[in-house]
Amino acid sequence: MSRLTSRLGRLALKNPVIAAPAEHMIRDGGIEAAIAAGAGAVVVKSTNESAAARAQLRAAEYVALDSRWRPVAWGPEADPATMILSRSGLHPLEFEAWLDRAVAHDATARAAECLLVPSLILADIDRAVEMARAVEAAGLRVLEFNIGTPYAREAAAGAVATETGAERVAQLTRRICEAVSIPVWVKLTGQSNDVPDLARAAAGAGAESVIVAGRLLGMLPDLETQAPMLGTSGGYGGFWNLPLTCHWLALCRAALGPERTLIGINGITGGEDVARALLAGASAAGLASAVMLRGFGVITESIAGLDAYCAGRDMTAAELVGRAADARKRFADMPELAENWTAYIPPESR
Ligand SMILES: Cc1cc2nc3c(=O)[nH]c(=O)nc-3n(C[C@H](O)[C@H](O)[C@H](O)COP(=O)(O)O)c2cc1C
Repeated sequence: MSRLTSRLGRLALKNPVIAAPAEHMIRDGGIEAAIAAGAGAVVVKSTNESAAARAQLRAAEYVALDSRWRPVAWGPEADPATMILSRSGLHPLEFEAWLDRAVAHDATARAAECLLVPSLILADIDRAVEMARAVEAAGLRVLEFNIGTPYAREAAAGAVATETGAERVAQLTRRICEAVSIPVWVKLTGQSNDVPDLARAAAGAGAESVIVAGRLLGMLPDLETQAPMLGTSGGYGGFWNLPLTCHWLALCRAALGPERTLIGINGITGGEDVARALLAGASAAGLASAVMLRGFGVITESIAGLDAYCAGRDMTAAELVGRAADARKRFADMPELAENWTAYIPPESR
């Protein structure tokens, strides 16, 4: 499937479908299944030095919801439109053991022409720098540095980070990028009114690719108990995030220029969504909750779906990148349409 080959800075992926991290990327079987499913890259569940962040995994809860906010069964039968509310934590292994497993998985990934991506979530920057150096020294080919989890406000102090200031994004990114020579992917929060500003800061400080963008926080009152579902606010995601992700991708492409590679994430549920993310400016796209909910077949189906889309238009995946973003106009550039608006209101209002 060479029409799906994608370039992310110095790295080439056999296809732009990334198995993004969540709980299904903790145990060996999950990572092996993602590699076997054909993903271009597989991201191992993140770690850091915080015991509180690890403890949070032991208190994690998840609920799958339909469009009426009703809990539905977890599993392959779940509709792609199912949304997920969750409270998660980090990888249960200590850093050294986590790194050993990542190195073992990297060997499996290399044999399958897949990129194995270790992921660090920021707690203390000095410790993050040490861990980044250890990742490089272990022979891993790339590092994901996540500074945009949705949880910083809700988690134990200092366990994880939600960085929303461009200056701090630049400082943190620079520290990591100066410490290692492997490509660094910086994963940004979507909880910002200016994601392109954060992306510009990360790219300017040396990030080879910028991942746009992390999930948002939500709280859903349960009508039976009249308490918040799962007892807290949680990370909230689903298919509806796709246009928000595409909007940020398009703006980031405009801010950074077409040479800087972007990775789209949040709300991508299958191959056609991957194509949409590419059209919006991503060079690759991550799927996490769709796979955690419905299984690793989602990855194989997404690759096949993207391939069918490209084949149907006689285009390569690389040729899709940014086409919609570059065709995007501003409101002021759109033609007047007289009383078009009157077709979209109830008859009494016309
Ligand atoms: C339960 C759960 C756990 C997650 N754990 C991680 C993690 O350890 N590291 C990370 O970078 N992102 C993590 N994420 C975020 C996902 O990788 C992804 O950015 C987000 O869920 C949006 O993509 P999606 O719509 O495909 O799920 C997690 C998401 C979920 C739902």
